[in-house]
Amino acid sequence: MKIELSSNKVFFENNGSKKEIHPFWLRERVNGENFVDKGTQQRLFDPTELKKNIQINKINLSEKFLEISFNDGVQTKLEVQDILREFSNINEIKFIKKIKWDSSLNNFNNFDFEENIFENKKMYEALINFYKFGFVIFKNVPTKNNFIVNFANSIGSIRRTNFGEFFNVKSKPNPNDLAYTSLSLAPHTDNPYRNPVPCIQLLHCIENKVSGGLSTLVDGYTVTEKLKDDFPDYYKILTETKIRYQFIDQNVFLEDWAEMIQLDENGIFKQVRFSPRLDFVPLMDKEKLELYYSARNKISELFNSEKYRIKFKLMSGDLLMMDNYRLLHGRTSYDANEGERFLQGCYIDYDSTEGKLKHLKRKFNI
Ligand SMILES: [Fe+2]
Repeated sequence: MKIELSSNKVFFENNGSKKEIHPFWLRERVNGENFVDKGTQQRLFDPTELKKNIQINKINLSEKFLEISFNDGVQTKLEVQDILREFSNINEIKFIKKIKWDSSLNNFNNFDFEENIFENKKMYEALINFYKFGFVIFKNVPTKNNFIVNFANSIGSIRRTNFGEFFNVKSKPNPNDLAYTSLSLAPHTDNPYRNPVPCIQLLHCIENKVSGGLSTLVDGYTVTEKLKDDFPDYYKILTETKIRYQFIDQNVFLEDWAEMIQLDENGIFKQVRFSPRLDFVPLMDKEKLELYYSARNKISELFNSEKYRIKFKLMSGDLLMMDNYRLLHGRTSYDANEGERFLQGCYIDYDSTEGKLKHLKRKFNI
């Protein structure tokens, strides 16, 4: 990749292809204290108010800088590196390669909590691991005063839902509400009926005195890739059929239509939504429904298989951060009469983790 000049025109050359850079594109990027606020890096001018016919009067290219005089009298000195960076169009997060895992995973991505962790290199490493594996566990996180809210807001901003800023998952002996049962929960993703679905769930164990109630995680990326290899017809119908996810209570009616396995514009895994108590497939041809139900059964079998599931006990102070677009979570049953099992949960979105990761990368010059 490089910049070239030819008679007052700037060209971008990449792998043999050469394209002219629009003069207006360069004019929008003029820097200097009259044009860009130093602190915020925001423009001090409105490019929509510039005259449209912007041209280059004079130009000079050195190894590091591109100096331009425009026909509206403005001059600027742009760093070549900055221009090339814009053309490389790198989404740093996308370039963190996902590592597929199954029940043989023995690195549970544990990171000890410490004061100022949110501004430390350790948080950078934890976030990288989060993007690689889809989860990370912080150990010894303070358990008093709903610290989870503090934690979430120190990475980014908490994502409030109709369940509140955060929610309590508390077991009670002789429960009087289904929410407080000690039944096992099969692997699922949270809130598939929201638009957008909360990206990341934080689950903080305040107390856990029961012998059961193990937390479970399944890598939806590993499983859906397995389905693609072994059962392409099933994969196809689950990536192509929009189904309705629904949640209703006295105050709200939430629903969203989406494919169970969502792919990005390049056909690569983006999100899985799996919660068989909340999904409604539309009325399709009988043959198509036959295939859909077989596909759903197969993926459910894989998600529930011991082969793909890791199990671990969350201890007091453990805070599990998991990607709700990639991972499924659940728990094994337990005996509520053995004692207290109290977790607190909340959500944050990808802008929180991406923003923090990029900030730390810049801060430590990584
Ligand atoms: Fe859940």
